[in-house]
Amino acid sequence: MRQSPILRDSRHIAPIRSPPTIKSRNHIGQNKILLTIARTRERDQKFLRALFPKSVKVLSVTALEKTAALKARANELGKPISALTAYDYPTARLLDEAGIDLILVGDSLGMVVLGYPDTTHVTMEHMLHHTAAAARGCEHAILLGDLPIRSYDTPEDALRNAQRLVEAGADAVKLEGGIRQAEKVKAITSAGIPVVGHLGMLPQRVKEEGGYKKKGKTEEQVVALCEGARALQEAGVCALVLESVLGAVAKDLSQQLTVPTIGIGCGHGNTHGEIAVITDLLGSYPWFVPPFAKPRADHGTSTHEAAKIFRDSIIPLDPPARKITD
Ligand code: KIV
Repeated sequence: MRQSPILRDSRHIAPIRSPPTIKSRNHIGQNKILLTIARTRERDQKFLRALFPKSVKVLSVTALEKTAALKARANELGKPISALTAYDYPTARLLDEAGIDLILVGDSLGMVVLGYPDTTHVTMEHMLHHTAAAARGCEHAILLGDLPIRSYDTPEDALRNAQRLVEAGADAVKLEGGIRQAEKVKAITSAGIPVVGHLGMLPQRVKEEGGYKKKGKTEEQVVALCEGARALQEAGVCALVLESVLGAVAKDLSQQLTVPTIGIGCGHGNTHGEIAVITDLLGSYPWFVPPFAKPRADHGTSTHEAAKIFRDSIIPLDPPARKITD
């Protein structure tokens, strides 16, 4: 069985064993016990669910192994972390099979799949539906589920909704913001769920910010980025997405932090890895392309072409039948 490049390359991670063994038990709520098990495959989870009462939440220890390996990877030279978004089964499966390290079911879903003008319309129900679809196609990569706007207003909300994303198949969750999110990160990580932070341009705040603006241009912004990154790191994030941060600032942060950074719109070689929105990579959402996007395919044009070829290939009914009436 092919292993994720991260797991394969990590010397810190013990090989995955069979059959599944319970590694630890943590109380994550009044009636719930978190069982961490040694394997992630769906059939093992089914097996454990059958063995234990319904109130028991099964979280694969592989999620913790995978995110620990992500940190180990940040120390290795020449092996940057690769991350892409996916919102459905076939895309997640293709990316997983291509050896992408981390697949994000991002709330960019709202724009590039659901057709909303920005990510502020995305709900937990949207995220659960698409996380579950992507999870069915993702075997090796870390599957990261985005907590949408208003789903983590309090530490209690953050934990409850993180648990829902994990139940839908996410290995870890991501939330946006710095210092003000530290308590929420602690609430989620103390229940054994890995969290990825997100700093710089925060799409969920696009309305307050009046657009998608580069960060790290003023001293005040640099201080906010540094303080936010430190607070998130201390709160226990396993990685940090940096979005639209000035290259030099992103590099400085990446060199100071002890968690890996994954950049988007931060230039190249300034972070431990890079993430892209899949539709930007494939050119399948041509109506809004961020200035930093580097399309590697043109699915917009090939979809138009294929649709026209299909339309023109349809053979008319011969001989024509009677006129169709209502
Ligand atoms: O939702 C998303 O796709 C993201 C990426 C831009 C990192 O958060």
